[in-house]
Amino acid sequence: MSRQHVSHNDLVHFAETKVNLPSDKAKEYRAQADRLGEKLKSYLKEHPDFTLKEILLSGSLAKRTALRSLNDIDVACYISGVDAPHQINELLEYLADRLRTAFPNFSPEQVKPQTYSVTVSFRGSGLDVDVVPILYDNDPKGYGNLVSQDDGSFLKTSIPLHIEFASKRKKSQEPHFAQVVRLVKFWAKRMKQQDENFRFKSFMIEMILAKLCDEGVDFSDYPEALQHFFTYVAKSNLEEIIFFDDYYDPKKIGKFTDRVQIIDPINEKNNVGKLYTSVNVDSIVEAALEAGDAIDSALLAPTKQETVHYWQKVFGPSFQLKGN
Ligand SMILES: Nc1ncnc2c1ncn2[C@@H]1O[C@H](COP(=O)(O)OP(=O)(O)OP(=O)(O)O)[C@@H](O)[C@H]1O
Ligand SMILES: [Mg+2]
Repeated sequence: MSRQHVSHNDLVHFAETKVNLPSDKAKEYRAQADRLGEKLKSYLKEHPDFTLKEILLSGSLAKRTALRSLNDIDVACYISGVDAPHQINELLEYLADRLRTAFPNFSPEQVKPQTYSVTVSFRGSGLDVDVVPILYDNDPKGYGNLVSQDDGSFLKTSIPLHIEFASKRKKSQEPHFAQVVRLVKFWAKRMKQQDENFRFKSFMIEMILAKLCDEGVDFSDYPEALQHFFTYVAKSNLEEIIFFDDYYDPKKIGKFTDRVQIIDPINEKNNVGKLYTSVNVDSIVEAALEAGDAIDSALLAPTKQETVHYWQKVFGPSFQLKGN
């Protein structure tokens, strides 16, 4: 591929300045979540029967795939399941009430139940922490019933195993896998800003990239890695089932009839793409085709200005070369 006007290094520069959450911010937010975890630990020392057992960082901050535009800190709170309510709104009130008990220096209005989670707001600096409940029974691998943030249903999951799955791919191509995840998420975020009906969940993007990574696609050249992703989405039309064999035998995967089938790597009964309709898929495929065409044109364009113009079709006007 021609690299005359915009090179892999230009994409690295763009990622570092516009896409990635800067590492000092990431550290600060992780420390904020850790402080909540530590507070809960010390409360538990004094009150061993307390039903909130552990607070764990989850989502993109834990997987190191967060974007600069991150606007809340995702954590999961493991709740001993026996006596906790199983009705979502009652469970959220229960969680909020106990968080207020464990963190007495937060005023009650700093701990608020939302639709499927409880928000803890810090005064002054920092982001809000979004606490998602997981009912569990001391499972050693961290399996429990999480309140799905997609539709409020209970979903069997394990935060530590999801992080371990992501971290295996991340380590297999360090630092490129996580960087390409962030670049594609940045593209998807822009598509969402342009069209309120566009949906493409970060977790699905990550699973598609994990599949390509497992198949041996080299992520070290970002224009090429992005082109692989867009070509896969367009060619497959997301009609192919995506699954992994890290945590279960693929023979155990049942028959799904949903339009998109991306099976959760730690729970063979959960289709991560179940809420996606053929209308959603058509928009994703169309956007992927456009992005792929723009990258092709960028790689063939005769001048620097035209090359930048095509990359801006993918990433928007914030795409600039160093020194501009
Ligand atoms: N449909 C799902 N099934 C199972 N687990 C899910 C599902 N959706 C999200 N998760 C869990 O929630 C975590 C966060 O998912 P999400 O799609 O918000 O991605 P993210 O990495 O936090 O990205 P973003 O930066 O966009 O918030 C995932 O890593 C996964 O553990
Ligand atoms: Mg998230």
